[in-house]
Amino acid sequence: MRLDELQGRRFVVCGASRGLGRATAEELVSHGASVLVVSRNPDAAVAQLGPTATGIAADLASAEAADRIDSAVNDVFGGHLDGVLVNSGGPPAGRALEYTDAEWSGAFELLLAGPIRLLRLLAPLMSAGSVVFITSSSVRQPIEGLDSSNVLRPAVAALVKVLARELAPTVRVNSLAPGRFDTDRVRELDAGRAQALDITPQIARERAEAAIPLGRYGEPVELARVAAFLLSSASSYVNGSALQVDGGSVTAVP
Ligand SMILES: NC(=O)c1ccc[n+]([C@@H]2O[C@H](COP(=O)([O-])OP(=O)(O)OC[C@H]3O[C@@H](n4cnc5c(N)ncnc54)[C@H](OP(=O)(O)O)[C@@H]3O)[C@@H](O)[C@H]2O)c1
Repeated sequence: MRLDELQGRRFVVCGASRGLGRATAEELVSHGASVLVVSRNPDAAVAQLGPTATGIAADLASAEAADRIDSAVNDVFGGHLDGVLVNSGGPPAGRALEYTDAEWSGAFELLLAGPIRLLRLLAPLMSAGSVVFITSSSVRQPIEGLDSSNVLRPAVAALVKVLARELAPTVRVNSLAPGRFDTDRVRELDAGRAQALDITPQIARERAEAAIPLGRYGEPVELARVAAFLLSSASSYVNGSALQVDGGSVTAVP
């Protein structure tokens, strides 16, 4: 895919040391963009991404992350920005009534409060920008045993709709809802499910893959290519959309 308009563009890519965020950073860099990698431990990824990548170590759930990332954008990009991938690790597995209050608050800080604090500072830096949130298939269909995601991801989808109106026409805001991709996060979830069912992680994976119409987990680059499209001006009339990238897993209509 050629996305020439990404050449020379500047992006903040959150959760970009591993997994889906990392793949998106690689995709953006491959099209000539510069990326500011945000994660708690970004150094190894920055070294591998090459000279157009810079890193800032920040925990998106923490109150001070937004200020630190904003300062880094000023230092690295002179305060100008073309887009943001809002992404991090997922919230903890568990059941609604069994999480502690601290776990519920932590999930809220990670998925909603942190991104709101961040965009409060970064949105004004974009003159024709694009923001993409990575959510989950749980925005359409709850996932067994992942209730903090089941409850809070739909709220993130609502935030996307709200911001798509409030930041327009300067900044477009969309979201991507992954199904199951082969990342550390999904391997950990498979290991947890395997333990609960007394099966191997490989069998847990095979059962999950059997329920996906395309018959396999996605490769992170298969989400990253869609993210790069939404972050580029090639998607200039797409705003407020929630796009499933799930191999056909979600069966809800539409
Ligand atoms: N993979 C899937 O199939 C799938 C499906 C549905 C939804 N999702 C969602 O998509 C997102 C990304 O998933 P993934 O599979 O790529 O996860 P992953 O492999 O666990 O990677 C998570 C990334 O986020 C960073 N991160 C984690 N917590 C952070 C924090 N508090 N502040 C800043 N950075 C943080 C991690 O780096 P550091 O450790 O360096 O901080 C890492 O770079 C998650 O929210 C996940 O729930 C994924």
